[in-house]
Amino acid sequence: MSTVEYFPGIGRVPYASQPAAEGLGFRFYDPDRVVAGRTMREHLRFAVCWWHSFSWHGSDVFGAPTRQPAWVAASDNPLQRAERQAAAAFEFFTKLGVDYFTFHDRDVAPEGADFTASQDNFRRLVDSLEGHMASSGVKLLWGTANLFGHPRYAAGAATSPDPEVFACAAAQVADALEATHRLGGANYVLWGGREGYDSLLNTDLKRERLQFARFLAMVADHKERIGFKGTLLIEPKPFEPTKHQYDFDTAAVHGFLLQFGLAEHFKVNIEANHATLAGHSFVHEIAYAIANDLLGSIDANRGDPQLGWDTDQFPNDVADAAHVMLLILQAGGLGSGGFNFDAKLRRTSVDPADLFHAHVGGMDTIARGLLIADRMRSDGRFNQLLEARYAPWRSPLGSAIVEGRESLGSLRERALRDRLNPELRSGRQEYLENLFARYL
Ligand code: XUL
Ligand code: CO
Repeated sequence: MSTVEYFPGIGRVPYASQPAAEGLGFRFYDPDRVVAGRTMREHLRFAVCWWHSFSWHGSDVFGAPTRQPAWVAASDNPLQRAERQAAAAFEFFTKLGVDYFTFHDRDVAPEGADFTASQDNFRRLVDSLEGHMASSGVKLLWGTANLFGHPRYAAGAATSPDPEVFACAAAQVADALEATHRLGGANYVLWGGREGYDSLLNTDLKRERLQFARFLAMVADHKERIGFKGTLLIEPKPFEPTKHQYDFDTAAVHGFLLQFGLAEHFKVNIEANHATLAGHSFVHEIAYAIANDLLGSIDANRGDPQLGWDTDQFPNDVADAAHVMLLILQAGGLGSGGFNFDAKLRRTSVDPADLFHAHVGGMDTIARGLLIADRMRSDGRFNQLLEARYAPWRSPLGSAIVEGRESLGSLRERALRDRLNPELRSGRQEYLENLFARYL
């Protein structure tokens, strides 16, 4: 730990079911409390994302940065600044009491004079991260490469019309994957921010999808070569910054992986706000991923119902969190994944304490969701009702269909002969919604 304090006056955030009204404290996240056979920290595996929390200082497309954190003000030298930023980040992780963090290569190290110099900077900062991780005990949930910020990637990285761009993207991922491996990362993420198009007038969609598949195959191959045992994750998003992103949603990613024979190598990192931008709910994306053995990890952040872009706000919807946690508990947990806050402060939140309030609120929302979901699951009511709804599939007719003993022709014969006249049974949605609300 550095001797300089970047968040002075703030100590380790405590758990207390009823902390003082203005003070920083968890009301629900009690890391060592056992729920459904595991501690809360084991269930939730919370991670702070580096980019929004430390590398972004409040700029938006209309305006300049609104914050000047102490580690930025302290030096004009980009590498020194990056070292200070790393110290500040680990001070924050430790005070918050979070077990994991996540980073892009370009979050932790500045761009250099050219591509080679940038990669050198990154290697140098990975050494520092290793030191901070060893002294703090904070672990890496996942690493990733930023293949969207630099102008060379404006027309895509793997899907660029220029093979030299593809080569730079490959180099960055090779380095970031090796760094993640060296730092003991549990997963590696690929978010294809520029892997899509802005206009079909200048885009060969068929070619670009093939390039993307080739790139992902190289990533899977490199993982094997270096012996990385973590999970490779693709993060779906429908658009922004591109008009259309090929990894539109979990179903599109699933189809793509199956088409190119890549399904065994990848799972998904589901971001709540990306789900809503795709016209789904967060819980839909989770349910689809679980049903297809694709759930890897989660970026927990919300959008704004009135704004059609990625506002990346900290989660505060307890009902949503409870529903998602119910599915995750039923599925047996998150495995190597966790809850990463790919969420950022509002531009006017300029106090150092705001970053703490944001994460404490997000962690408490999800922890509360876990506690509620555990009650829902142990009561077993939802499961019983679901079982009852599909029970007719255990009848002789249902079993014959499920076991593949029927055809359209045989079913026509049966339907006409037996004069089938099935009655509509209530789906009981209103009752179920009320039941759900009672647990909150
Ligand atoms: C962008 C986004 C990324 C990924 C990592 O919308 O979610 O920050 O999580 O590249
Ligand atoms: Co994300």
